[in-house]
Amino acid sequence: MLEKLNAINSHAHVNTFHPNSLSWPEQVTQDEQDYLSRFCFGVTGEHDKAIAYIAKELAQLAEIEKHVTAVLTIALSELQGFVHPLNQDYVLHNALSCFGAEELNHANTFFRYVRHLTNIDFRLAQNLFEERVAVYQQPDSPFVKLVAMHASAYVGESVITAFEYRARDMDPDESHFFTEVLIRHALDEHRHVEFDHFVFDEILPTLSDAEKARAREMAMETERLNGLLAGAFEQYAINTLGTDYRIGNNAWDVQMKLTARFRDIVFSGSDIGKVDNALTDEDRALLTSFSGIPTVHAQYLEQASA
Ligand SMILES: [Fe+2]
Ligand SMILES: [Fe+2]
Repeated sequence: MLEKLNAINSHAHVNTFHPNSLSWPEQVTQDEQDYLSRFCFGVTGEHDKAIAYIAKELAQLAEIEKHVTAVLTIALSELQGFVHPLNQDYVLHNALSCFGAEELNHANTFFRYVRHLTNIDFRLAQNLFEERVAVYQQPDSPFVKLVAMHASAYVGESVITAFEYRARDMDPDESHFFTEVLIRHALDEHRHVEFDHFVFDEILPTLSDAEKARAREMAMETERLNGLLAGAFEQYAINTLGTDYRIGNNAWDVQMKLTARFRDIVFSGSDIGKVDNALTDEDRALLTSFSGIPTVHAQYLEQASA
């Protein structure tokens, strides 16, 4: 089992990126604005709304990624005193360290990208960080915390994977900077999803029924607080950038639908559900029309196990 975990991160030093390594443009060109508009609205000319929407979502994602790093750091610290076969040697420590460090690099990238898009310091002070961390500062075992954190993170990671494939589909030559940002992010995210699945397959079954219930409660509280954060970012974006980016925005509409659907798949069963195992024909049709493929993670996971 430790070999399986080790294999997930065996190339984490190769298939990764530092924000400095992206080809940061001087400004958002007209061509890029048209692409962002088509990406979200299906037509050119809606670039102000597209930029407001993308800025809101990626600034919010950066806050959520910083929270993941913080929670994984708490778990890493508490694992020092936790005796379990999965916690032998350096393998789990390495996996969580890679995951946490990568999320902080993503937050750094998205923060800079939002600055690039909007030309303002787009910062929400009321980011509920203390409340979101407090959920994980209770006397629960680190494995309970990992199950809760990865179940919550997995929903968002699945949604942004659909956006990555939309970018690949719309811009196969990767000529747009937004595509580059999404694809570089995905270098790490595909491993994160593999690790989430490892948590659901190997760590979740080690929990007692009471611990499983507690992990679910913590995940739901994380989702509730992230929902409040999303609402606050929505108002902040509309007020700061002066446009309601939701009207006529197909990407926003699909994002809302996928988030609700994936949350339902993950949390509606007695154990944690995996997204691709539960897709309906309707889900597959939506994914195909949006991102060109009928699944979310299956394509990458098949390549990784080949
Ligand atoms: Fe990320
Ligand atoms: Fe991630």
